[in-house]
Formats: sequence, structure tokens, C-alpha cells
Amino acid sequence: MKKRALLFGASGLVGGELLKYLLEADEYEQVAIIVRKDLGLSHPKLLQVVADFSVLSRHSDIFAVSDIFCCLGTTANKTRDKKEYKKIDVDYPLEIARLAMDKQVQNFLVVSAMGANKNSKVFYNRIKGLLEDQLIEIGLPALHIFRPSLLTGARKEFRLGEKAAIVLTRSFIFMFTGPLRKYRPISAETVAKSMYAAAQTNKKGVFIYNSNQI
Ligand SMILES: NC(=O)c1ccc[n+]([C@@H]2O[C@H](COP(=O)([O-])OP(=O)(O)OC[C@H]3O[C@@H](n4cnc5c(N)ncnc54)[C@H](OP(=O)(O)O)[C@@H]3O)[C@@H](O)[C@H]2O)c1
Repeated sequence: MKKRALLFGASGLVGGELLKYLLEADEYEQVAIIVRKDLGLSHPKLLQVVADFSVLSRHSDIFAVSDIFCCLGTTANKTRDKKEYKKIDVDYPLEIARLAMDKQVQNFLVVSAMGANKNSKVFYNRIKGLLEDQLIEIGLPALHIFRPSLLTGARKEFRLGEKAAIVLTRSFIFMFTGPLRKYRPISAETVAKSMYAAAQTNKKGVFIYNSNQI
């Protein structure tokens, strides 16, 4: 029987790659995306819902799918206010997971980040750690958490810090072997492919993939 998927973050780097995979995948008869702006895309399998993320429960019917993929996130440059940052990186994904739980979603797949740790002194790592711990507490049948290192790919916007880090790590790529392999930059396409593949395994439980395991 064909499945239905729901994707968050379809306008982003990882989410955009994932959307391509899901639309092409035979396993899915419908791919719904919830976005805050019309992406102007058209595909026979695509259902786009433009929504206000502060009231996602208004769209709870769309959560009745087998697999939910969450690729939401912001950056310190885009969202300077930490409360707002937490809303995007933690509160929205948690609300999505709770709505997913209500609708008995089989697989929940989410992008976290390398270094996620709720006790970290680094805000970004702490936020991701908080998200992971609270997602686990919800008790979803299958929770897949992906912790990529620095993402590479054709990003529409220019991010100076990210670009500089990618150029720098490329020059020293030979060093990222053995225990340092998990620090090697990873393409958004690889992350997306791995998320899609994990959703097809039908394993139950909590699964955490560090960057070198993605
Ligand atoms: N960049 C890296 O090197 C890196 C490394 C490790 C982990 N990560 C994590 O990986 C995940 C995916 O990263 P990415 O680079 O693919 O992200 P991205 O390209 O920045 O995309 C983020 C997505 O989140 C959505 N979003 C942001 N703010 C929103 C809001 N207020 N309401 C609704 N949607 C909102 C964006 O939608 P709009 O288009 O509407 O803004 C977009 O679809 C993130 O959680 C990120 O923290 C990133």
C-alpha cells in the first residue's frame, strides 16, 4: 500500500533535497508540505498548505500520514532573538511531533545537528539537545534523529560564515578521517537521502545518526 508523507522545511536546503526524493519515490502517493510562503511548485503528488506556524493545530487533518519529515531551522544571523530562535528550532518541531503522535504517525524524522546536547554552554548545541530530549519524551513509535555536521549544497542565499567554513574544511579534508570523520562536511542531498531511506525501514524506537553514520 502506498504511503503519504508530510514535510516541513521544504523551502530549505535539506528539505528542498528531500522534497525531490519524496516526489520521485514510488512508496508515496502524496507528499504534503506545510510552508509559510507559496513555493510556486506544481507536481501531481504534491499538496502544499500555506500556514501560520503558530497555529499548526488548525491543520491537524494533514498530519494523518505515515511519515513526517522535519527540516525546520534558523540561524543566529536571521533570528537574533533567542526566544524566537527557540520557537523555530524547538517549539515548532515539538508541536509537529505532538500532532503527529495524535494522528498515530509511524515514522518521525528530524534534522538536529552535530554536538546536540542540552547541557552544552553553546546556545545552538543546547537548543538542539533540548529538542532531541523532548522529542524522545513524546514517545513516537519511530523517531529518527539526524545530526549532520556542516551542510553543503546549492543554497539560494549567501551565508558568509558557512561558506568560509566550507572552504576551510575543504582545504583540510584529508584530516577528517578515523575519529575525526564525523566533522567532515556533509551534503544536504546525503542527509535527505538518508532520511528517506530511514523512513522505509519500519524499525520502531529511537535512532540517532551522527554525521559519519548518515
Ligand atoms: N547549516 C548547517 O551547516 C547545519 C548543520 C547542522 C545542522 N543544521 C540543521 O539542519 C536543519 C536544516 O538546515 P537547512 O540548512 O536545510 O535549513 P534552511 O535551508 O535554513 O531551511 C530552514 C527551513 O525552516 C523554515 N523556517 C525558518 N523559520 C521559520 C519560521 N519562523 N516559520 C516556519 N518555517 C520556518 C524555512 O522556511 P522559509 O523559507 O519560509 O524561511 C526553511 O524551509 C536545521 O535544523 C539546521 O539547524 C544545519
